Amino acid sequence: MFRKICLASLFFFVAGLCAQTLKSPDGSLQMEFSLAADGAPQYTLHYKNKAVILPSRLGFEFKNDKTSMQTGFSLENATTATVDDKWKPVWGEESSIRNHYNELAVTLKQAESKRTLVIRFRLFDDGLGFRYEFPQQKELAHFVIKEEHTQFAMAGDHTAWWIPGDYDTQEYDYSKSKLSEIRGLMANSITANLSQTSFSPTGVQTSLMMKSADGIYINIHEAALIDYSCMHLNLDDKKMVFESWLTPDARGDKGYLLAPSKTPWRTIIVSDDARDVVASKIILNLNDPCKIDDTSFIHPVKYVGVWWEMITGKSTWAYTDELPAVQIGVTDYSKVKPNGKHGANNENVKRYIDFAAENGFDAVLVEGWNIGWEDWFGHSKDKVFDFITAYPDFDVQALHTYAASKNVKIVMHHETSGSTRNYERYMEQAYQFMNDNGYDAVKSGYVGEILPRGENHYSQWTVNHYQYAIEEAAKHKIMLNAHEAVRPTGICRTWPNLIGNEAARGTEYQAFGGSKPNHVAVLPFTRLLGGPMDYTPGIFEMDISKLNPDNHSHVNSTLANQLALYVTLYSPLQMAADLPEHYQRFADAFQFIKDVAIDWDESKYLEAEPGEFVTAARKAKGKQDWYVGSVGGENARTSNINFDFLDKGKEYIATIYADAPEAHYKTNPQAYVIRKVLVNSKSKLTQFVAPGGGYAISIKPSAGQNTKGLKKL
Ligand code: NOJ
Ligand code: CA
Repeated sequence: MFRKICLASLFFFVAGLCAQTLKSPDGSLQMEFSLAADGAPQYTLHYKNKAVILPSRLGFEFKNDKTSMQTGFSLENATTATVDDKWKPVWGEESSIRNHYNELAVTLKQAESKRTLVIRFRLFDDGLGFRYEFPQQKELAHFVIKEEHTQFAMAGDHTAWWIPGDYDTQEYDYSKSKLSEIRGLMANSITANLSQTSFSPTGVQTSLMMKSADGIYINIHEAALIDYSCMHLNLDDKKMVFESWLTPDARGDKGYLLAPSKTPWRTIIVSDDARDVVASKIILNLNDPCKIDDTSFIHPVKYVGVWWEMITGKSTWAYTDELPAVQIGVTDYSKVKPNGKHGANNENVKRYIDFAAENGFDAVLVEGWNIGWEDWFGHSKDKVFDFITAYPDFDVQALHTYAASKNVKIVMHHETSGSTRNYERYMEQAYQFMNDNGYDAVKSGYVGEILPRGENHYSQWTVNHYQYAIEEAAKHKIMLNAHEAVRPTGICRTWPNLIGNEAARGTEYQAFGGSKPNHVAVLPFTRLLGGPMDYTPGIFEMDISKLNPDNHSHVNSTLANQLALYVTLYSPLQMAADLPEHYQRFADAFQFIKDVAIDWDESKYLEAEPGEFVTAARKAKGKQDWYVGSVGGENARTSNINFDFLDKGKEYIATIYADAPEAHYKTNPQAYVIRKVLVNSKSKLTQFVAPGGGYAISIKPSAGQNTKGLKKL
């Protein structure tokens, strides 16, 4: 690592005000920090000499505090540094990640309060990160944040891909509009959820993706959300200025801090090439290095699950329909009548274990195995589950032994139904139960309103709960995948046992009325920037009434699009979400899901435009095989890629799984064609993509394989 620190000898004074400039390593980004005439800290950001962030103020209001931390500052000190190093993630899109930035840290003193505040800026070639630091000092110990006033002043009325700001859910379809149109579209964008709290007609969530009229892509998010409340953005749509809007706790407070402390990083990714945005690693780089000493228990997981059948309503999580409510320790399940539709029964679970073993999957997720599902949400019930008691038809030991004999794991499921206190009460026992019974991964969930009552899903208190679960799981050598938890901010670098999160609208919504066909072409520009998503792809039967005649939902995707998702939506945890019988019906297409890697040496984004298309090529970790995935949006398109990522002079067999010419996500989603061709680094592909469609390619060296009859691409 090369680190150079020079005291700020480079200050220059403009009209008595101190301005500091910082350039990114390649010079394309330039930021300037200064103090306004009233002593307010402010910054600007330019990309290739075009304004990205106009002068924007930085500051705070504390609760019951007579001095607002917004004005009256003077510059005490400024230091700069350069870092250029590399680190190796436990799993990832790349086996080695470069961390290269120039840093500026300004130390500010507020005359009235005598308090010191540090603002640290890190400028990478693809974006800016900055955070506030409150050093230990006599004048500041315990404090409560009333508001954080971090501004992001836009240089125009950009196009944005946004979801409504909400303290409790992120499970929305994206809207695309001008910033000035957000207010008019807000009401229609807020679709129903079991727990939701919107706060402003111009409030949106991060990560927020934008594009300027002159083609600059801008993304605002945060990194390293630890012991702080999750940030939303509220737009002043007259001035086009976003301001941070923190999630309040049950009392309306936005954070309890104790100096020394620091905020998460506020991040702004910038490029004139959309591919740089999806490839950006600044959010991971702004997180601390791995804190788990022995990471040998962490591994990528490809899994199937007793899951889609419950989501579609074909079977149930609950064991009985007889009782309107149940109580742990009181209800005697041996005396109730089973409903005959309970999915997590021994026989059915064995069927999935067999299917997993036959097809090379690592694990089977089983939901609805534990007692309590009869009245699991909507009642503000504190103790819903105990996470250790199985239903009478689920034999923990026997199923573990059966799965282990076939080299398959069972993925544990902990639905908390939002009762975080109850989960914390049981957590130690629940994780020990996993250790004792051969489970090494858990999917958790936070459906419905948070208990303690009045707390929000994204307040500091609840953020700390999710973090507690991550760290406790690590102690037990358990991998974690939390649903309905706060959106990821790169914490998986520090805690790589966090192998997945939901925190966006996943495949389940395709069985709850459907998602927009271009949703998956937005996610890599938004939700995925903070970390992998347990999106649960792989649906082959799009007509849900075939699973459950009472469910008329339609999956808005072609089958080839579903295959592409294994490559375009990066995750070390990938599910094949559909039922075994559907995979058996389309065995030739299923081959791609069986083959595709889930951990990578290298990743290249070949094409990208938010909400329109994403094409990625990835090299399997430690192998010579490559996989390509491409998803489109609402309209048909032609994808043009070349294969110059392949080793020069080497020949490969490419198996292309693509939409048939007549395919359409609505009317003909299962029309696909598979062809095998020979490719090398000079090959080019022109490929049709249907509306809501896509394609997937597996590429393996031809050496030692039968190439007879195969044509060159
Ligand atoms: C919502 C999750 O997203 C889903 O995957 C899960 O099956 C249900 N909650 C039940 O826990
Ligand atoms: Ca969910």
